[in-house]
Amino acid sequence: MPKPIIVCVDDEIAVLDSLRRELSEVFEDTCEIETAMGGKDAIALVHDLIEDECDLSVIIADYLMPDIKGDAVLQQVHQLSPQTLTIMLTGQANVDGISNAINTAQLYHYIAKPWQPEALQLTVREALNRYQLSKKIKDYQQTLERKVEERTQELSETLHTLQTTQSELIQAEKMAALGQLVAGVAHEINTPVGNALLAASVLNNETSSLTQAFEQGALKRSALVGYLQTAQESSDLILQNLHGAAALIQNFKQVAVDQTSHEQREFQIIPYIESVLTNLEPKLKRTRHTVTVSGDAALKTTSYPGALSQVVTNFVMNSLMHAYQPGEAGQLKFEVTQQQDRIILEYTDDGCGIPAEHQPKIYEPFFTTGRDRGGSGLGLHIVHNLVTQSLGGTLSCQSEVSVGTQFMLQLPLTLRKGEAHARG
Ligand SMILES: Nc1ncnc2c1ncn2[C@@H]1O[C@H](COP(=O)(O)OP(=O)(O)OP(=O)(O)O)[C@@H](O)[C@H]1O
Ligand SMILES: [Mg+2]
Repeated sequence: MPKPIIVCVDDEIAVLDSLRRELSEVFEDTCEIETAMGGKDAIALVHDLIEDECDLSVIIADYLMPDIKGDAVLQQVHQLSPQTLTIMLTGQANVDGISNAINTAQLYHYIAKPWQPEALQLTVREALNRYQLSKKIKDYQQTLERKVEERTQELSETLHTLQTTQSELIQAEKMAALGQLVAGVAHEINTPVGNALLAASVLNNETSSLTQAFEQGALKRSALVGYLQTAQESSDLILQNLHGAAALIQNFKQVAVDQTSHEQREFQIIPYIESVLTNLEPKLKRTRHTVTVSGDAALKTTSYPGALSQVVTNFVMNSLMHAYQPGEAGQLKFEVTQQQDRIILEYTDDGCGIPAEHQPKIYEPFFTTGRDRGGSGLGLHIVHNLVTQSLGGTLSCQSEVSVGTQFMLQLPLTLRKGEAHARG
């Protein structure tokens, strides 16, 4: 390791000599001692040392010099090498020079001429200690900064890996959900199509037999009556099952939410919900339920009204289908509030509630407890897709058996173009 350097500056050769001698006595082994005749010489020397990346630890400068005064020399050195400790030698009590050096060169110490060699040696030793200490602190600081930088780098790499893993997981989950959906659709459609197929083949067989009997002139009236009955029953079955399959396909088409086919626009949310409820009036009229909508009627949102209409319709239809016994009078409530740039839409019924074990499954495609009543189990799956994809929001459900069910939607007040797609 290169030794630290002590620079002595004076315009008198005798002074420089004694400085060198006294300092060498103590620091010969640990430091290099350089001398400069006057201020200009000193600044040139310091420039050279800095250029050579030397360890300039201490500079001792006389105050009274003909070319540049000591305080100005120390000030320049301090600017060039701020970590160097500055000591000034002064013959007379020159308060101005000292205070100037303190202010501009962060003067470490001043020594009055004539000085005691021991005092000089002690001062320089302390200065060297101080210099080494601050160098160490600086090294620590640099090491610490490097470590922090490395750690930050590591952390950001970890974060990146996590994000990639997360999106891979989401993708895998989506693929799994899609697989499930396709398998479910195939299964669901298989039943009505299979039934229709069976009825059609019965009809086909019976028609062949009838045609044969007719061609042979052996057609009896009773056979014709029997055939007509079978034909009626079979065609009824075919129609009914194909209707079922068509409805299922219609529902399934909605699962693949296509927001581009619906217009995005600004609308007042409460009057809009009320208009959707008016469309449901024919269904509600047959019940004793009360539906209310509350909140600030002037509240506007920019979003997809078509998607919201499907959500509202599904909520109400679910309450009608699942929440109440026939003849029961339920309270169905929509409540709309604004929280900063979000709209909170709460829908509540006071029906039978959803058992805890069913709650995690309600958004799954084909989960239904109403299959016998024509439920396909796609309703809430569609709602979930609409809310999270088309409407760019979130959906949560709270339900308690015998108390009722609540769905809460958080929607952005203004759905920016492209936002819905990005979330999908
Ligand atoms: N308000 C509610 N009260 C009680 N149970 C509910 C309510 N809403 C939904 N559920 C339960 O969640 C299940 C899933 O609902 P979802 O709307 O997805 O399907 P579905 O209504 O059975 O059939 P679909 O909507 O396709 O005709 C329902 O079968 C029912 O068990
Ligand atoms: Mg439903």
